[in-house]
Amino acid sequence: MDTSTCILGIETSCDESAAAVVRLNADGSGDILSDVVFSQLDEHAEFGGVVPEIAARAHVEKIDGLIDKALQESGTDLAHIDAVAATSGPGLIGGLMVGLMTAKALSAAADKPLYAINHLEGHALTARLTDRLEFPYLLLLVSGGHTQMVLVRGVGDYARWGTTIDDALGEAFDKTAKLLGLAYPGGPAVEQAAKAGDGDRFALPRPLRGDKRLDFSFSGLKTAVRQTAQATAPVSDQDIADICASFQTAITDTLRERVERSLKRFVNEYADTCKDPALVVAGGVAANRIIRQALEDLCDKNGFRFVAPPQNLCTDNAVMIAWAAAERRICGFAADGLDAAPRPRWPLDEHSASVVGHGKRGAKA
Ligand code: KG4
Ligand code: ZN
Repeated sequence: MDTSTCILGIETSCDESAAAVVRLNADGSGDILSDVVFSQLDEHAEFGGVVPEIAARAHVEKIDGLIDKALQESGTDLAHIDAVAATSGPGLIGGLMVGLMTAKALSAAADKPLYAINHLEGHALTARLTDRLEFPYLLLLVSGGHTQMVLVRGVGDYARWGTTIDDALGEAFDKTAKLLGLAYPGGPAVEQAAKAGDGDRFALPRPLRGDKRLDFSFSGLKTAVRQTAQATAPVSDQDIADICASFQTAITDTLRERVERSLKRFVNEYADTCKDPALVVAGGVAANRIIRQALEDLCDKNGFRFVAPPQNLCTDNAVMIAWAAAERRICGFAADGLDAAPRPRWPLDEHSASVVGHGKRGAKA
């Protein structure tokens, strides 16, 4: 690589409005010049989930100010960046339109190339910015809208090895919390409640255990939680803690078994070419300490490096969008035209067959 590039990134695909400026240097390293995020959590909390219309409106209100702030904090200005990038899918159509239209306007006004970025590619490439990871590696993306195991072979070269056939993992946490009367978002609330609980009290199912496919399924677990809560009603605080702990034990067991299959497949296919195999985790659920520890232990056992980018770069942000655009630009991918359209459904691996129920919610990635 003999050049560097500096990109303004914009992210508006779900409930975070974000802008960032990132530089990819000639030696392949990256510098985050600014990273500004406005989380809409408070505006959606009373509804127990993201409301698309409220999200789109909040993006419109915030994004200009966030971009100004990101440019100011970066010490550069629009005239001195090399390109503008925005998430153009997958995600909620209203938010995607806000971010992409804003990026188009800036691109046209400042005469800069435009990059319409797949949000999942942002998650997939972040570990190269934070840990200088070489290809190929595995990515486990566990967020409110996605649960995927992705083989990252190169920039723009991805194979989806596994996905959820029903609910996303974060969604299962959120629904379990709602069912038990805990706060939104459910993940942190369930993790907190589980600390005082007995993870062996309730025998909850381990969906798809033993299945040769590398897919995930969580809706049966959610149903089992409901039935357990009903059978135990009226539930005490201790019952709630025990259900949460048992739910987390079932999730952790399931992930361990499902993920280990992917690690073994990776070793089978890449033992000759990849001497430093790595598993990257991303998405909000990666914040869960119990899950994280289980995955770390699994990596140790299987000779994999465990890579977890800092939490602010694991959840939705604009740094990853700017970085993905920078990697694409340096690799020689063409910029997008002003006719680039938002794509609410946009699989990272265009060749992967769609799975029944997958992407049902399709809101968060
Ligand atoms: O990546 P993220 O911030 O947003 C998107 O989905 O794009 O992920 C949010 C999801 C929510 O479902 C939330 O409940 C879950 O991540 N989450 C957790 C934890 N913190 C956040 N799940 C389990 N344990 C946690 N500590
Ligand atoms: Zn995401």
